[in-house]
Amino acid sequence: MTASAIEIRHYDNRDAAELRPLLLQVYAEIYAKAAENDPFAAPDRFAQSLNGWSARPGWSCTVGYDEDGQAVGYAYGAPLPEDARWWGGLLTKVPADVVTETGTRTYALSELMVREPWRKTGTARRLHDALLATRTEERATLLVDQTHPKVHALYESWGWQTLGDLRPRLEGAPLFHAMLLGLPQN
Ligand SMILES: CC(C)(COP(=O)(O)OP(=O)(O)OC[C@H]1O[C@@H](n2cnc3c(N)ncnc32)[C@H](O)[C@@H]1OP(=O)(O)O)[C@@H](O)C(=O)NCCC(=O)NCCS
Repeated sequence: MTASAIEIRHYDNRDAAELRPLLLQVYAEIYAKAAENDPFAAPDRFAQSLNGWSARPGWSCTVGYDEDGQAVGYAYGAPLPEDARWWGGLLTKVPADVVTETGTRTYALSELMVREPWRKTGTARRLHDALLATRTEERATLLVDQTHPKVHALYESWGWQTLGDLRPRLEGAPLFHAMLLGLPQN
């Protein structure tokens, strides 16, 4: 399996309803094991979260397809609104201007996942890069579970910097590293 054989397609809010079953199916497969003992990873909770994210203005999504047209993974996110709840759970003290949102300043990368056969092929990086390449925001943010240090290290190797600790104000939410990445200004 090579990443170059993967075709990446871009989607936005208008495609969300049609895309939804596919996104749910891929999630259920990838998070099946995690969901066994972590209610935060439950498919139902994810379905709710997807509804919220895909309804946000500016939501965008990249999906990778193999030569047979099978989805191999995806990434999605949306800009943070002015009154973003995103930073509400930040536990690390940072200057106020770091977490000031304007609605056009920060793109939040909410999900990135790749089905197992396509891991370590560069597909995840391609989905990530393609998603961010079309954005006009000055920076991106993501949250990575602190019990997944290898994923944290992976993002660092892609240029992301750690801002601090963050626990979303949602029931059962784990402790995350909040990360930031500067985006090229087009
Ligand atoms: C994150 C992901 C897209 C990266 O894909 P990739 O660039 O091909 O990189 P890898 O799959 O090799 O992952 C890098 C390392 O992180 C580990 N890792 C990946 N996802 C992990 C998870 N959910 N929990 C714990 N460790 C994880 C991998 O085992 C790997 O470690 P290794 O080098 O010792 O084998 C892919 O691993 C994935 O889909 N993971 C499950 C979903 C996920 O956790 N998404 C990230 C949410 S922030």
